[in-house]
Amino acid sequence: MNTSSPGRLDPDGRVIMLSGANRGIGAAIAARLRRDGYRLSLGARSPKAMAVQLGDDCLYQAFDALDPESPQVWADATMAKFGRIDGLINNAGAAVPFGFDDEDEAKLDHMLEVNLKAPYRLIRAALPHLRDSGSGRIINITSLAGIRYKRGSPGYAITKFAAMGLSSAARSLLWDDGIRVTAVAPGPVNTDMMPQTSGFAREDVTQPETIADVVAMVLAMPNNASVATVPINAVYEPLP
Ligand SMILES: NC(=O)c1ccc[n+]([C@@H]2O[C@H](COP(=O)([O-])OP(=O)(O)OC[C@H]3O[C@@H](n4cnc5c(N)ncnc54)[C@H](OP(=O)(O)O)[C@@H]3O)[C@@H](O)[C@H]2O)c1
Repeated sequence: MNTSSPGRLDPDGRVIMLSGANRGIGAAIAARLRRDGYRLSLGARSPKAMAVQLGDDCLYQAFDALDPESPQVWADATMAKFGRIDGLINNAGAAVPFGFDDEDEAKLDHMLEVNLKAPYRLIRAALPHLRDSGSGRIINITSLAGIRYKRGSPGYAITKFAAMGLSSAARSLLWDDGIRVTAVAPGPVNTDMMPQTSGFAREDVTQPETIADVVAMVLAMPNNASVATVPINAVYEPLP
């Protein structure tokens, strides 16, 4: 019996680019999408050392968010291997302390490059192919820190707010091309990024596999059921 809802996109044959695929949330998304039957183009700084080796039919591509050429090289490599790009998941991210008393802006610049400019460049590099898909998908892993400031690095929050702006503009401007854009915005997730000092027990916060479930659901939604933002709370707070 076919239990999938009408219009749900069939993963079979669809090609998804995923940044930061080697560990944390990215590794969980890669494993989940592989099981679902997508063809994966996995970007990581050290692809050979990738924690998840998901088979010869995946592309393992060197991707460094600090290198402005890297997105185009990766998109070209994806096209050379698969001949199409149907989805882009901007997952790679950086979180370092940066606040109002920091005079040296290098850490802020670093986070802007990884959390905002690299996703922007990846969207640009993949865009012609996402348009050709007719049902292109862009998922940006942002953060609750990009919706409201509550705790942690102010600089991180600033760059994640900017990433929410990127999502919002892309969602509006690419709609008529059949491209649907979603910001997935978690609170604390049990990965290396969650600081030991967060005050949360690792088992109490959101698990990376749960974020992967959300990504898998959003990725398969039909063009007439677009989800703009998915805020994900580990602990209660009023809706932002
Ligand atoms: N964990 C949380 O509490 C949380 C909450 C909300 C949102 N998020 C967001 O979720 C996403 C994934 O984070 P995570 O929790 O999985 O963190 P993580 O375990 O620390 O993984 C971060 C990923 O980003 C990659 N990355 C960092 N700098 C890079 C660069 N210059 N070029 C290419 N890749 C780079 C890392 O690659 P390397 O292995 O090479 O360093 C790694 O794959 C991020 O966008 C993060 O902001 C996380």
